[in-house]
Amino acid sequence: LWTPESFIEETVQRIQHQVGEDEVIMALSGGVDSTVAAVLIHRAIGHRLHGIFVNHGLLRLHEFEQVMEAYRAMGLDVKGVDASEIFYRQLKGITDPEEKRKRIGKTFIDVFQHEAKAFPQAHFLGQGTIYPDVIESVSVNGPSVTIKSHHNVGGLPEKMHLQLVEPLRMLFKDEVRRVGETLGVHPDILHRHPFPGPGLAIRILGEVTPEKVALLQQADAIFIEQLREKGLYDEVWQAGAILLPVQSVGVMGDERTYEYVVALRAVTSRDGMTADWARLPDSFLAEVSNAIINRVKGINRVVYDISSKPPATIEWE
Ligand code: XMP
Repeated sequence: LWTPESFIEETVQRIQHQVGEDEVIMALSGGVDSTVAAVLIHRAIGHRLHGIFVNHGLLRLHEFEQVMEAYRAMGLDVKGVDASEIFYRQLKGITDPEEKRKRIGKTFIDVFQHEAKAFPQAHFLGQGTIYPDVIESVSVNGPSVTIKSHHNVGGLPEKMHLQLVEPLRMLFKDEVRRVGETLGVHPDILHRHPFPGPGLAIRILGEVTPEKVALLQQADAIFIEQLREKGLYDEVWQAGAILLPVQSVGVMGDERTYEYVVALRAVTSRDGMTADWARLPDSFLAEVSNAIINRVKGINRVVYDISSKPPATIEWE
């Protein structure tokens, strides 16, 4: 019988056996998987786990600070690195979604490798890989087509001559959450919506600029905050805002405006492989739309995405 308790006990022993007296470095993202993996590894080897949380400048509003605070509260040793400027520079002028992913992935590896130099004694790399990732990395990259190259730190272990520590490799998401709960990870972290590695870069259609990131962060924060306030956050599998590369005409007082359009996306799903658009109440959507248009300068129109996957994808890029 599988129980979180027995899984934790066995896994802690396995990690101790694998790592011995050595040390582990790990890239943390604030997501469920990497956090639960880190807490497990921490339980096994304590301060010999060194976390690195890279802020690529494409996170949600205040996310970096909030996640760092959560790690501190959990007793994890995590170094926060603000590399936003480096990522923005790499993304300048880039509009192709796959090129964005490639550049973000590469820059991420560069930054992480640089930071990892502070821990030359570590010969292991911790990762929050879960079972669906193992399957997906096989199926997404078919022999001839790449649908979307998901951002991960693939290639990193070989490049840095590190051995992988992947305690969640055999688990599904709901099992990861149960393990996290038993380990005492905060429910806010455990029930977070999935968030793509390249972050807001693939929710800003066209070129990414720091100004557009700031605009989208505000609209996204209003949407998510309202979902939480109205008790709808846990009803949807994933939600977010997308900044479209078009401007539209609006009117504010006596003035004609010409500003950006934001699309809201909320889906229900079991695993992200298929998804349906969430039937959010129209009164709720009306409120969110008003709040965004009134509070975010530079956005004068909000639309709601009513496409299912397939044939649409959850992300727009
Ligand atoms: P799609 O858009 O393919 O998204 O329907 C399915 C799930 O995957 C996430 N996603 C990504 N996650 N790097 C990631 O780490 C990526 O490049 C990426 N693209 C999509 C998406 O947020 C959804 O949860």
